[in-house]
Amino acid sequence: MSQEPVRLPRDRAEDHPLDPPPGLARLREERPLARMRYPDGHVGRLATGHATVRAIAADPRFSSRYELMHYPFPGGPDGPLPPAPPGDMTGMDAPEHTRYRRLLAGRFTVRRMRELTARVERITTDHLDAMERHGPVVDLIEAYAHPVPALMICELLGVPEADREMFTRRAAAVFDAEAPVEEQTAALTRLGEYVHELALAKRKHPTDDVLGELTRTDLTDAELAGVGSFLLAAGLDTTANMIGLGTLALLRHPDQAAALRAEPESADRAVEELLRYLTIAHTGARVALEDVELDGQVIRAGETVTLSLEAANRDPARFPDPDTLDLRRKATGHLAFGHGPHQCLGQQLARVELRVALPALFTRFPTLRSAVPPEEVRLRRNTSVHGVRRLPVTWDEG
Ligand code: HEM
Repeated sequence: MSQEPVRLPRDRAEDHPLDPPPGLARLREERPLARMRYPDGHVGRLATGHATVRAIAADPRFSSRYELMHYPFPGGPDGPLPPAPPGDMTGMDAPEHTRYRRLLAGRFTVRRMRELTARVERITTDHLDAMERHGPVVDLIEAYAHPVPALMICELLGVPEADREMFTRRAAAVFDAEAPVEEQTAALTRLGEYVHELALAKRKHPTDDVLGELTRTDLTDAELAGVGSFLLAAGLDTTANMIGLGTLALLRHPDQAAALRAEPESADRAVEELLRYLTIAHTGARVALEDVELDGQVIRAGETVTLSLEAANRDPARFPDPDTLDLRRKATGHLAFGHGPHQCLGQQLARVELRVALPALFTRFPTLRSAVPPEEVRLRRNTSVHGVRRLPVTWDEG
């Protein structure tokens, strides 16, 4: 007898806002591949176990095409999603996906990432200097977590110096989780239009950044602009929220912050653990293209499967004592960047930014602490990327 389909648990516990919704842990234990009722009425699946999520993400019998997919959160369309626009490769399958992936993968080279490390060091130092000059109290999100990744995207896309102030200002409007959704969407559209114009300008005068190099491929103008906008959307909100929420997690675990400060060279391992523990891009999805037998059940062709990356990354079968933040843990194998053919293309860039930005912050301000009681730190609610809205911080000057 099949059990009643579940709804996707979304509510985090008030006193544990950095943990996934408690309902997910219960499901992972009892029904790691549960039948799930989607807000539009579709009945598909919800995968919460690490091994199950990983297997589905890598299995070509599951599609990533948006137009086959039912949206797991309330507020989506009444039926499947619209197809991916040009450049939005997460919503495509091979061969369209492979074409974009090949064109882009060659641009995220080790050499370029090394060059970007030097840039992120410069950018973080400048912003930490500005924080120091300003003095406490500052909102860490506005002063640090937003501008650092925004300027790194400028580096990646080759946004001219003269446009960067405007670019980060518009990017801040995109992030403004307080603003109505329409305003955020409008801000992203304006930024997308700018990237479009930039891409067309680079067609005429090619440069040696990622966007400039892509002008020398067979991408059409619409595809080129689409890729630029997609990189912007994929790389900005994610990394910014990882810096913000990562800082909050360290402030709430002072012993861990002290360990990072004492051994900044341990940052690589620390960042992997923070990525696992926080899993800010908490939910993914796939659609079965045929009947697939998995974990003793049959997922029927056409069923959307929601992949709870955050539940998978807290699976005790994969990570012992999973709800403890332990920066010394070897967190390799986490799914914070997804898995399989769509695994995050910008993960090395994100790592470069996090490995520099977090230790630099805690080393520069050894007494850094929240300027407000924990219950007053406002977290994002019900957004596709988890994060902090505002994080007022203070420190001892001296
Ligand atoms: C895909 C997370 C930063 C570019 C993904 C996916 C996840 C993810 C979970 C997989 C989506 C799926 O399977 O459907 C993150 C996190 C980041 C981060 C947590 C920061 C901490 C970045 C950055 C860039 C980037 C900095 C580039 C500038 C992309 C691209 C894809 C992707 C292009 C699509 C890959 C594909 O479909 O083949 N990311 N990301 N991401 N990410 Fe990231």
